[in-house]
Amino acid sequence: MKVEIDGHIKDLRALWFEDGIIKFLDQRKIPEKVEIFNAKDYNDVAFAIKDMVVRGAPAIGVSAAYGIAQAVLQGKDIKKVSEVLKLTRPTAHDLFFAVDYMLKKIDEGEDPIKASENYAEDIVERARKIGEYGNSLIKDNSRIMTHCNAGALAVLDWGTALAPMRYAKREGKNIFVWVDETRPRLQGARLTSWELKQEGIDHKIIADNASGFIMQQGKVDLIIVGADRIALNGDFANKIGTYEKAVLAKENGIPFYVAAPMSTIDKSIESGKKIPIEERSQDEVLYAGSCRIAPEGVKAYNPAFDVTPSKYVEGFITEYGIIKPNKIKDLLW
Ligand code: MRU
Repeated sequence: MKVEIDGHIKDLRALWFEDGIIKFLDQRKIPEKVEIFNAKDYNDVAFAIKDMVVRGAPAIGVSAAYGIAQAVLQGKDIKKVSEVLKLTRPTAHDLFFAVDYMLKKIDEGEDPIKASENYAEDIVERARKIGEYGNSLIKDNSRIMTHCNAGALAVLDWGTALAPMRYAKREGKNIFVWVDETRPRLQGARLTSWELKQEGIDHKIIADNASGFIMQQGKVDLIIVGADRIALNGDFANKIGTYEKAVLAKENGIPFYVAAPMSTIDKSIESGKKIPIEERSQDEVLYAGSCRIAPEGVKAYNPAFDVTPSKYVEGFITEYGIIKPNKIKDLLW
């Protein structure tokens, strides 16, 4: 993606590995400023994932892959490093998929740097294909709604939910995107909007609780979101608030699609009931930036994800094509 940094436009990914250091576009600071966070060892990588310097399931997966490669270079205990990384964020399946991928490749004698770079290139190509397939759903003048950020920042490049929109725009289609602000971390208002602006895609940010009204007014043709973990029956976890969008989409006759690569599918679980849901600090709800917005002493509950039952999903946009939820289990590799 094109990023303005230090007064220059550069073609950058959400993260990359350079001279033994893993470099992240610090997603805690966008859009106010674009800064690089340098991870010098696996503790820095674990911090970056936990504190959401990097976020979005596929990008978390790549961070872990690079983190393991870096740890091998530094002669660290890979088993311990894997355990530390796996404890960072429980819902994003790509994290576990990437760690297991790296351990297998190292066990097979593959060069860890090469394995991590292959993992990164592969995920970018999968995201591009998601864009190509998803583009077929987007007609000229489509009004699309999305939730959270499932863009290039959440993958490395292209994105998942945003990839079809990038494709459609580059093909010259006129599109408009409703961007849910996505409380409490505001990934929609801060990150999706930042990406769409760079791509020249017309959009408006809406308060999360405005989406039902906008759907009811007939102003949404299609909804595309990403996923953090998909169960074999097609239930899936994504950013808190996704479930509400899906139910409201059904109520209003709007097709609801989930864009995700196969690394997000958890083949060990039959249904969404088994998906672990991350709970984050109550301060994310009690504060807007550094400003407290609730009375002193009041508590908050902050689940980071919810699970949407497959019956609300029109289709999954994958690197293998667009498939019905009941075909997820047939995708297995
Ligand atoms: O808490 P986050 O910002 O990591 O949550 C991200 C999402 O919910 C995304 O929709 C999902 O990871 C897919 S990213 C391609």
